Amino acid sequence: MLHENLTVNALGHLCIAGADTVELARQYGTPLMVMDEERIRRNFRIYKNAMSKHFGEGSFPAFASKAFSCKYIYKIAKEENVGIDIVSSGELYTALKAGFDVSKSFFHGNNKTDFDIEYGISNGVGHFVVDNMTELDSINEIAGKKGIIQPVLLRLTPGIDPHTHAAITTGQVDSKFGIAIETGQATEAVKYTLTRKNVRLDGFHCHIGSQIFDIKPFCDAARLMIKYISSLKVELGYEASILNLGGGFGVKYIEAQPELDYAEFIRLVSQFIDNEVSVSGIKKPTIVMEPGRSIVADSCLTLYTVGGTKQIPGFKNYTSVDGGMPDNPRYALYQSDYTVCLASRMNDECDFECTIAGRCCESGDLLQENVLIPKPQRGDILAVLVTGAYNYSMASNYNRIPRPEVLGIKDGKEFEIIKRESFADLIKNDL
Ligand SMILES: Cc1ncc(COP(=O)(O)O)c(C=O)c1O
Repeated sequence: MLHENLTVNALGHLCIAGADTVELARQYGTPLMVMDEERIRRNFRIYKNAMSKHFGEGSFPAFASKAFSCKYIYKIAKEENVGIDIVSSGELYTALKAGFDVSKSFFHGNNKTDFDIEYGISNGVGHFVVDNMTELDSINEIAGKKGIIQPVLLRLTPGIDPHTHAAITTGQVDSKFGIAIETGQATEAVKYTLTRKNVRLDGFHCHIGSQIFDIKPFCDAARLMIKYISSLKVELGYEASILNLGGGFGVKYIEAQPELDYAEFIRLVSQFIDNEVSVSGIKKPTIVMEPGRSIVADSCLTLYTVGGTKQIPGFKNYTSVDGGMPDNPRYALYQSDYTVCLASRMNDECDFECTIAGRCCESGDLLQENVLIPKPQRGDILAVLVTGAYNYSMASNYNRIPRPEVLGIKDGKEFEIIKRESFADLIKNDL
């Protein structure tokens, strides 16, 4: 199957980490997300081991928790001894409640409010990744009032186009994120930051985009950033001690996509870094990476119950399920690829082409178009695979649909990660 944690049992049911998904759907209801904990830990360890082997001992991954933010994942990140990337006070609050040591966190975002900055500083956030100079002024002022010196990185745009979907490209000069090297604004920002008394510039960050399968843009970005760091040493006598290269490694969602060897990608990026470091003579910075999707995506699938199937002669067939854009808006947002299968009848022939429709009052509420599955009956369990990243964290209550339950599987046993929302949850803030 698509990933090694997915199998089919003697009943012809889809299993994840050995657990029968049809049985879980029966017991816990649908929509239901099921996560394989071992897979998450395995993915963390691939990054951790390869990064310390190739980049050096101090290097570490910082999980981009926007991909899946809840207390459970911060506890796993703590146990695996990795850092985190957070992008809001809400993510920070969740991490704190999970007991995560946020001195190993990077606070991102292109518009941190004064509240975010105050809250982050008060709670000991490790680094703010500064997007612009008005934000820097605010960090400097708030840190000054608290009598501390706040470590920061500057988010730079290296001008790399990684050829992924436009909505998830971030490293080009025309971007809402970061400060461009090409325009000279980055160097102005470095000079300015170095004059501020209450911040300490530890280095730089870049993130070129997401769901990228080609190693070249990562190597180009790493080389460019190291070159830039060495140019600053010559021009300003400033030497960065941290280089955070962001996330972005692609994940296999469908058979046509490759399964990347992340350790090998890290080795290749490290070669470029080492070459540039040896040419320029600067001290090699500590390298941080921020994988999100490639840590959690393939640990999870989402189960739905099939409702009706509509056949429109001369057009297409629609199969409707009891979830959709409220639990997974990614197809509606950017036509994301997914593998769909009929979890309750895995051995039946896949000879029915249909579009999987969600239950919302929105024509764009689709999960995937033109998939081949056995002709579904009402009550069949349908699975959308590889849904661990940017699904639950992007979920909404559109049409007042409660968010689904998230279950974990470990050592063959299931446990609750996030409870299913109730109708009472839906109105708890209504006055
Ligand atoms: C700053 C930053 N770092 C890391 C990531 C994680 O990217 P991915 O999930 O593709 O690894 C993102 C995603 O948008 C990001 O914006």
